[in-house]
Amino acid sequence: MNRLDEKQLEKYLIDNFEWFHRHPELPYEEVQTTAKIRELLTEAGIEILPYDLDTGLVAVVRGQGKPADTWTIALRCDIDALPIVEEADVPYRSEIPGKMHACGHDFHITAGIGAAILLQERKEELCGTVKFIFQPAEEESHGALKILETDVMDDVECIWGFHADPINAVGVIGIREGYVTAAVDRFVIRVKGVGCHGAHPDDGIDPILASSAIVQGLQSIVSRNVNAFHPALLSVTRIQAGTTWNVIPADAEMEGTVRTMDREDRILYEKRVREIAGRTAAAYGAEAETEWVQGPPATYNDGKMARICETTAEKFGMKTVPEESSMGGDDFAYYEDKDTMCRDIPGCYVKIGTGVGHPIHHPAFCVDESVILPAAKYLAEVLLAEESD
Ligand code: NI
Repeated sequence: MNRLDEKQLEKYLIDNFEWFHRHPELPYEEVQTTAKIRELLTEAGIEILPYDLDTGLVAVVRGQGKPADTWTIALRCDIDALPIVEEADVPYRSEIPGKMHACGHDFHITAGIGAAILLQERKEELCGTVKFIFQPAEEESHGALKILETDVMDDVECIWGFHADPINAVGVIGIREGYVTAAVDRFVIRVKGVGCHGAHPDDGIDPILASSAIVQGLQSIVSRNVNAFHPALLSVTRIQAGTTWNVIPADAEMEGTVRTMDREDRILYEKRVREIAGRTAAAYGAEAETEWVQGPPATYNDGKMARICETTAEKFGMKTVPEESSMGGDDFAYYEDKDTMCRDIPGCYVKIGTGVGHPIHHPAFCVDESVILPAAKYLAEVLLAEESD
């Protein structure tokens, strides 16, 4: 591919953004998406690392700057879409029924490709190596673990991530030092009672009454056990029991999620959920069994990296605002998690304003295309800034 001038590059990125938007693929099914990313990067002369991934890929730009040093850093771009019927008023709507890029990952892909192209053109200025991780299945919370099964992160010193942000206008970057997304855990509680006639509850043990007490008790964790200065929450989101009006069932089941920022709170929550479920059930003569499923940890933005993001934004005349922390999760956190990586890898995850509009995961969510080139330039500059730091 010949070197494109700014206008040409912008058109190239927007055209490809629209292609990705029209062809959304769900987690772990990003076959066409991966093939297209491979095609575009190859066309731009960018090296792709030979990892045996079903979907997703890792590209690399090797600096030729002097003095050459051994810095290796990474940028994560997630690539998957959601099972949503699109309602966005755009001429490049999803062509795949029931699937949609409603989280802006099509923007992540194109801004990432744009940054790689810009960095490749400036590799004489680049003193280290930058890996571009095009990651599958962020929406399933575990795609990062697929990437981490490879050795791609072994030599990476720090990792950058970003997300489309419909709360802010184009030209605004949300940055914050500290926790920005929560640890995501899921629990299932199975309550076992003794079934009986609805008119003779004295003949059985009512698992619905015990479950109701458990639901109430679980909400005491945040108010009585967790430090009041620590963000944390628990939601019971599903509860099922019984089949009809005049039979007390033998079992009940509930499911929910716990969100925390602090590592210790996460451990505390699991312990208290198990205790409250088990002992409350026992108080009603029932039994409860708790299944705990850990998702990604909380994302923590490194202070030095957050400052690089700020300085770079100022350099481009962009406005910076405090990034809104979210009780939502992002599996970006796995890349910087000590338990997963066996070492501390500083990370920073910023929010790039993509035009104020419908929230992410909304059927009418859309990205203002005018953000794509500026975002690519911004990311390239952040990656260069880390090098020269
Ligand atoms: Ni997302």
